[in-house]
Amino acid sequence: MPRISTSALRKAYAVDALLPRLLPPCRDLRAAQNELRWLREHADHVADARRAQGDTVSKSALLRDLVKQRASGKPLQYLLGTEFFGDLEIRCRPGVLIPRQDTAASVQHLARLVRKAQNLPSELRVLDLCTGTGCIPLLFHHELYAARADVELRALGIDISGKALQLAGHNHSRLRGDKTLADKGSIHYMQADVLANPFADATRGRGRIAVSTALRHARLPHIWDILISNPPYISPSGYWKTTTRSVRGFEPKLALVPPPTAGNSGIAQGDRFYPPILDIASEVEAKIVLLEVADLGQALRVARAAQALRMFDGIEIWREQPNEPDSPSSEVAGFRVLGEGNARSVICWRGTGAAWLGKSERAPAYEDVAFPDVSHRARFRTGPVSVVHQGEALRPYWVKHLNEEQKAVKHNVWRDMETNAARERGHSGAPEKQELDTTVAHAEVLPKVPKKRGL
Ligand SMILES: C[S@@+](CC[C@H](N)C(=O)[O-])C[C@H]1O[C@@H](n2cnc3c(N)ncnc32)[C@H](O)[C@@H]1O
Repeated sequence: MPRISTSALRKAYAVDALLPRLLPPCRDLRAAQNELRWLREHADHVADARRAQGDTVSKSALLRDLVKQRASGKPLQYLLGTEFFGDLEIRCRPGVLIPRQDTAASVQHLARLVRKAQNLPSELRVLDLCTGTGCIPLLFHHELYAARADVELRALGIDISGKALQLAGHNHSRLRGDKTLADKGSIHYMQADVLANPFADATRGRGRIAVSTALRHARLPHIWDILISNPPYISPSGYWKTTTRSVRGFEPKLALVPPPTAGNSGIAQGDRFYPPILDIASEVEAKIVLLEVADLGQALRVARAAQALRMFDGIEIWREQPNEPDSPSSEVAGFRVLGEGNARSVICWRGTGAAWLGKSERAPAYEDVAFPDVSHRARFRTGPVSVVHQGEALRPYWVKHLNEEQKAVKHNVWRDMETNAARERGHSGAPEKQELDTTVAHAEVLPKVPKKRGL
C-alpha cells in the first residue's frame, strides 16, 4: 500500500476520525470521503435491517468494523455487497470475481450493435463462458430488451465454480424479481470446465465436465449464435506485476490466472483459455465471438490464433472504450483496433454475424444456391465452412444437389443444415450429425435467391 504523509493523515483526521484508515486503500482524501459515506450508508442499512428482526446492533460498531476491513485491503464491493455493471447492480461475494467496468463497456457495445440488426433470428442464443457473477448474460439481456421486443434471448452462463454459479443464479432472480430485467427470454447457468477435454474421462469430480458434454447432458442446444468470454487471462508474472494487493489478497486466483500445464508457463499460461474457447466457438458454430484480453500483446496473440483457424470473416480489437462517439481506429499488425484506452477485447465474426455487427458481409465470398428438390433457399460461402440458411422447412441435403461450378463447399455446410434443421423444429437435443468428409462437387448456382419453389 502507498505510504501516506503525516500532514495528509492529519488533514483527513480533522474531517472525520475514521478517514485516515481509509487513505491507504483509497489513495486520496476525496476518494476516502466517498468510501466512508458509502460504508456509513451501508452500516445504517444493515443495522436497520437487523433491528427490524429484533437484533440490537450498534451502527457505529458496524461502521468501525467495515472501515477496519477496508483498511486491510478488502475490496469495497465485497463490503457493500454490490458493484455496478453497466446499469445493473450486481451482487458480489468473496470467492467470486468482482465485475469490471471494462468488461461492461465491451458487452454493452456488442449488445447495442446487435440490437440494431434487422436480421436477428427469432431466438438469439448467447453463450457466456466463465460467467462468474453472471453479469455478462444479465447485461446483454438488459441491453437487448431495452431496444427490442421481437427477439427471444436464450442465454447460458457457464463456470467451473459452484460458488460463482450460485451467485449468478441469485443475481438473476434478484434482477428479475425487482423488474430490472424484462420478463422475457431466459438465462440459465450451468457448471462445466472450459479446459476439460470432451473426449477424456469426465468423472474426475464436479465441474470437470467439458462444455459440449454438459450441454448434451442438460439437453441444451449445441448451436449458439454469440459466444462471449472473459476467462482467466493473467500470466503468473503479470499476477504479481499488474494486480493490486487488494486483488491478490481477496479475489479468487482461479478467476484470474489459468492453471499451469507441463511445459506451459509465463505468457503461454496466461493465454491458456483462448484455444479451447475458440474450439468451443467452432463447435457451437458461433457467428460472433467476443473475448476479453489483458492488453494489446495478448489481443494480437488471440487475434492471430483466431485468424489461423480460418473460421472467421473478420477480426477486430476493441479498446476499453470501444463505443466512444467518433472513436479513433488504427491498424496494428493487420488488425483494426477501435476505441480508446488499453486493448480490452477481440471480436471475431463470420456469416450472418457480420450483418449483426453492422459490418457488410463480403459479398463475393458467398453464392446463392437453390436446391431443385427442396422448398428453401440458402446462401453458401464457397471456401471452408459457414452457411447462412434462410429457409423454413429444412431437412438433410445431399452432396449430389450441387454442381461442378461450386468449389470446395465442405461437409460442414451439411452439418450446419442438419443442426439448423433440428433447431427449426424446436428440437434442443443433439441432432444426428452427417459425417460427410467430402468436398461438395455439385451445385446449382443461381444469380438471385429464388422464391420458394414448392418442389
Ligand atoms: C475473469 S473471471 C470472469 C467473471 C465474469 N465473467 C466477469 O466478467 O466478471 C473468470 C471466471 O472463470 C471461471 N473459471 C476458471 N476456470 C474455469 C474453467 N476451467 N472452466 C470454466 N470456468 C472457469 C472462474 O470461476 C471465474 O468466475
